[in-house]
Amino acid sequence: MRKKKLMVANWKMNPGSVAEARVLFGKTKLAGGKLDKVETVMCPPFPYLGLFAHAGTTRVSLGAQDVFWANIGRATGEVSPEMLKDVGASYVIVGHSERRALGETDEMVSKKLRAVLAEGLTPIVCVGEKERDVDGKYFDILKNQIKSSLAGIRRTDFREFVIAYEPLWAIGKSAREAMTPRDIRETSIFIRKVLADMYDATTAELPVLLYGGSAEGSNTAAILRDGGVSGLLVGHASLDASGFISMLKSANSI
Ligand code: PGA
Repeated sequence: MRKKKLMVANWKMNPGSVAEARVLFGKTKLAGGKLDKVETVMCPPFPYLGLFAHAGTTRVSLGAQDVFWANIGRATGEVSPEMLKDVGASYVIVGHSERRALGETDEMVSKKLRAVLAEGLTPIVCVGEKERDVDGKYFDILKNQIKSSLAGIRRTDFREFVIAYEPLWAIGKSAREAMTPRDIRETSIFIRKVLADMYDATTAELPVLLYGGSAEGSNTAAILRDGGVSGLLVGHASLDASGFISMLKSANSI
């Protein structure tokens, strides 16, 4: 397991103003910068990325929420891996379920992953089932999603690679409705097994695994202790600086 916990703040389409973004970034960076057992990654919406250009440190990094799969071409509205690198982003979320819901396919995810890796950025690829059925079909759904999203990814690419497991049914709710640490652990083992079948047992241990879906202050420690993951992808709870800072401190104490 990775030594430092990886805590990724996915701000989604928030906050609504530059002024608020500056405050949120500033407070989180100040607190995150004091923690030696956590790497904090803040992923603001595109218009704010430039505000924090090269503000990253070894403890607090900058990430993007999406990316295009090429550096050149006619692509109105898109942002290239090269641009993200140039503003000092080091992580990129790829294939978030909210992007997939707007039409992003596994094939697009795999193209984006390859473009991100070619630029020397670290991808955070999101996978997760829509629902859990009693027959356990969700395992197959997850397996197929992982296999097609990772098409064309080589063993050596996994040295700097993050997989965020985010069951869709647990996103945007409250800690009470999040997945239990025990179920997260079971799924983490399953994901490593899928990777071992695709590659080999050693490679399967390389990517950093995160959990996302209603991670809040009250379940952070339990998930990090018992969920078989090295960190969290945090949505709504990352928008409240003091609440998110408590989560970072909690991660730092494990
Ligand atoms: P949430 O979002 O923490 O608000 O559930 C997580 C995510 O969608 O990345």
